[in-house]
Amino acid sequence: MTDTSIYAGRRARLAAQLGRDGIAIVPTAPERQRNRDSDFLFRHDSYFYYLTGFTEPNAWLLLAGDGRATLFSAPKDLEREIWDGYRLGPDAAPAALGIDEAFSVADLDSKLPKLLENKSTVWYPFATHKGLETRVDGWLQSVRARVRFGALCPEEQRDLCGPLDEMRLVKDAHEQDVMRRAAQISARAHIRAMQLSARMLREGKDVREYHLDAELLHEFRLGGSQYPAYSSIVAAGANACVLHYRADVAPVHAGDLVLIDAGCELDSYASDITRTFPAGGKFTGPQRALYDLVLASQDAAVAATKAGNRFNDPHEATVKVLAQGMLDVGLLDANKVGSVDDVIEKRAYFPFYMHRTSHWLGMDVHDSGSYVEPTQVGEVSERKDPLSNEIIKNRPSRILHPGMVLTIEPGIYVRPGEGVPEQFHNIGIRIEDDAIVTATGCELISRGVPVNGDEIEALMR
Ligand code: GLY
Ligand code: MN
Ligand code: MN
Repeated sequence: MTDTSIYAGRRARLAAQLGRDGIAIVPTAPERQRNRDSDFLFRHDSYFYYLTGFTEPNAWLLLAGDGRATLFSAPKDLEREIWDGYRLGPDAAPAALGIDEAFSVADLDSKLPKLLENKSTVWYPFATHKGLETRVDGWLQSVRARVRFGALCPEEQRDLCGPLDEMRLVKDAHEQDVMRRAAQISARAHIRAMQLSARMLREGKDVREYHLDAELLHEFRLGGSQYPAYSSIVAAGANACVLHYRADVAPVHAGDLVLIDAGCELDSYASDITRTFPAGGKFTGPQRALYDLVLASQDAAVAATKAGNRFNDPHEATVKVLAQGMLDVGLLDANKVGSVDDVIEKRAYFPFYMHRTSHWLGMDVHDSGSYVEPTQVGEVSERKDPLSNEIIKNRPSRILHPGMVLTIEPGIYVRPGEGVPEQFHNIGIRIEDDAIVTATGCELISRGVPVNGDEIEALMR
């Protein structure tokens, strides 16, 4: 386990925002049954981990506004530990985790009302634990039963996600270090998958998407990663045009592109990398033309990623390059859609680029943190969406600060359709890297796997 002072520091910063008479309730994730005696693989709750560094299931943190931290955790139980594994137990928890006191989770319902008594505000995450409000309600009922004896019952309930999301948005040095290592492992896995594809095809083997998926998993675990940060996408040929495709059994043909979107989770932090490569190791002309266009759009987005710029700037830079490129290569017909400005204004690029360029990255692959600039939430403007005709309310996009981490992931997806040049049919390309914002630009932590088309061909030879 890491130095407990990291978690103590975060708890102190959070406690300072709860109010002197505030108290926060933070459960870890529930265990989920898969079937009969099998559970889904347990993954702790990100908020809970952020404040404790504790990965056992069945645990709760109570944090009071004065900074006092109380843990409820699974009690020592030899029989359960023989079946399910080691438990820290409440007796050892204070020293091991640097918290003030700990009790068995079996005492949660009996002790919680006492902890909530005489507080003014109860904070808990509104967005992540279905049914938690009912439990809080039950504990508050117990407090109310004691008001005749002079107890005060909290009158206010507030969403803990707000302050925690803001804290999580800017990654400290420890988090950045873990994220760099996660991205390095994932980069190696992408290289291995590319090389396996070319090697098996050279050997005349029947290559399937799952072969490449297996290679990714192998390298993730070899690097010490606990599990993939999300379901890996390994999409051969036309499957690349399905945005949430999963690695399946489809054959990988030498002339096709393969799109792999896969990243490992290391010590609770995600990486998220996409590479698109020619299965046999050599791009065709049309594939390379679109590939270089997506890469140029990513270059523009990377150049727009720096402190002081806004979260939307990389997306807008991407769209500008893609829109011009779609006109240049003939995916869009200027006679029909007009100039590049018209393409952007009318979102005519949307049939080929239908997702955003970035999302926050951290403990969750789509990490927490507002995409709106908090100092400007009141500045609302309206515009009519040219495709849906809906009125969209816009608020100024988030200003980037050093330590924020985001993905930069432009793409082009060409489904066959009227007027769509046949040479581009069924080509799906995305290039995704992970960027730490710095004062002067950004650090691309996922470039252990190349993006340049020539470099990809070279490593597959
Ligand atoms: N792999 C999920 C994403 O790229 O957002
Ligand atoms: Mn991805
Ligand atoms: Mn992503």
